[in-house]
Amino acid sequence: MLKVAKFLRLPESTVFGVSTFYAQFKFSPTGRKKVRLCRGTACHVRGAPRILDEVEKHLGIKPGETTDDLEHSLETIACFGSCALAPVIVVDDNVYGRMTPKKVAQILGNAKSN
Ligand code: FES
Repeated sequence: MLKVAKFLRLPESTVFGVSTFYAQFKFSPTGRKKVRLCRGTACHVRGAPRILDEVEKHLGIKPGETTDDLEHSLETIACFGSCALAPVIVVDDNVYGRMTPKKVAQILGNAKSN
């Protein structure tokens, strides 16, 4: 950020403010596969908390974290816009609807727990 601020001739606080405002900017490496779990209302009432528990157990990480091998990152989202398929999980660009805890292992494969 110091280099960017110097290059753009902006205060470091401005660069820091922008980089912390947008979720697309990360301060630590993310996993090769992005696992996003919807926690919107429809998904919540249809079991998203149980799916999240299973994903956390399977990967050994919490939302906002990345596995030690940098293979998976886990995020939660407010609503993916596919409420009819609730509960929904998205791995990279693949959308998995009507999730169950049992399907987690099938979708995430033999991802190692930390
Ligand atoms: S609440 Fe999950 S897709 Fe809309």
